Amino acid sequence: MQPRTQNPEPRTPLVLGIETSCDETSVAVLEADGTVRSNLIASQIARHQPFGGVVPEIASREHLEHLMPVLEKALGDAGIGLEDIDAVAVTAGPGLIGALLVGVAAAQGIAWGRGLPLVPVNHLEGHIYSPWLRRDGAALDLPERFFSMVVSGGHSSIYDVRSGEQPSVTALNRTRDDAAGEVFDKVAKFLGLPYPGGPHIERIARGGDANAFRFGIAQFKQDSPDFSFSGLKATAIRTAKEHGLEPSEGRPQPEARLRDFCASFQQAISDQLIDRLVRLWPVDAGDAPSELGLAGGVAANGHLRERIENWGAEAGVTVRLPEKVFCTDNAAMIAFSGIQRMRAGFRGDPLRVQARSRMAVGQ
Ligand code: KG4
Ligand code: ZN
Repeated sequence: MQPRTQNPEPRTPLVLGIETSCDETSVAVLEADGTVRSNLIASQIARHQPFGGVVPEIASREHLEHLMPVLEKALGDAGIGLEDIDAVAVTAGPGLIGALLVGVAAAQGIAWGRGLPLVPVNHLEGHIYSPWLRRDGAALDLPERFFSMVVSGGHSSIYDVRSGEQPSVTALNRTRDDAAGEVFDKVAKFLGLPYPGGPHIERIARGGDANAFRFGIAQFKQDSPDFSFSGLKATAIRTAKEHGLEPSEGRPQPEARLRDFCASFQQAISDQLIDRLVRLWPVDAGDAPSELGLAGGVAANGHLRERIENWGAEAGVTVRLPEKVFCTDNAAMIAFSGIQRMRAGFRGDPLRVQARSRMAVGQ
């Protein structure tokens, strides 16, 4: 009897993702269905902490130092070598130009050297798709139309997103001044908390009375749905000063009051985010979005997650919250966003990809 020749299992295409737009060097390997094989993040937070914020020159140097070791480890964790990669996706902007250049140059080298497509990804679009990624297994199916609220250290916007063959991303609002995460960081800095301040405010707020301080919700005259957080920042810092919450030598910070302050401040940020969401959510039934994704570093905030989930339950909207590891900057979301572009037929030429510090969504 002739032995039957067995066809080898068809190999699932693999996409390499690279993210270096700010202070995290990250490399990921994803399967075409969004399964995350590996997602490594080397955070530079400790290097920037003494300065209370990200120092662009330090960021570029750190990316240079860490990118190749992180790449090697990400490939190793995925159990593959560079020769197994089928496409590369890289953050092309927006972000710190010197930081972006490190990732883009590396991605160009890999893609060109191996004759692979290189997909430039908008960092914000990376965040936008992140709530559909899972820690284990394939990503959830993207609905044809959804809304996305991206709240990070550099951006706060609500987007109307269409997936599929003709994807589009339309910003429905923007922040007129600071981003939500930026205000978390600045208020935290005033309270003497380490950078980035968001997680520290959340930790201290636990058990605090969120109604102890009233900060109000910023509104514009023409009923614009734009965000504005700089008024809240100023009021919060003034209030903190008036209540002796500023750290000073020889005097302990009043713990209970600090707890109430952080709980109230965190609630004020969520109040404004939900106010705009309610205002922008379409009421016309026909083509209405079926899901809302919450994304960006601030999406890790437990209070905000709960509030948005409650809103979804009341409004009959499916809310997608990203896994904590996909909230802050990571390469898995960049590879996944690259996969969406490739599904829509995009195949990038490695030599044409350019890093850009400013880049509008959908560009
Ligand atoms: O998305 P991300 O890593 O970087 C940008 O693209 O900006 O977001 C970082 C921001 C920081 O402002 C940080 O304070 C905030 O996300 N953040 C949080 C929490 N975790 C991170 N804000 C509130 N609560 C958190 N748990
Ligand atoms: Zn980000």
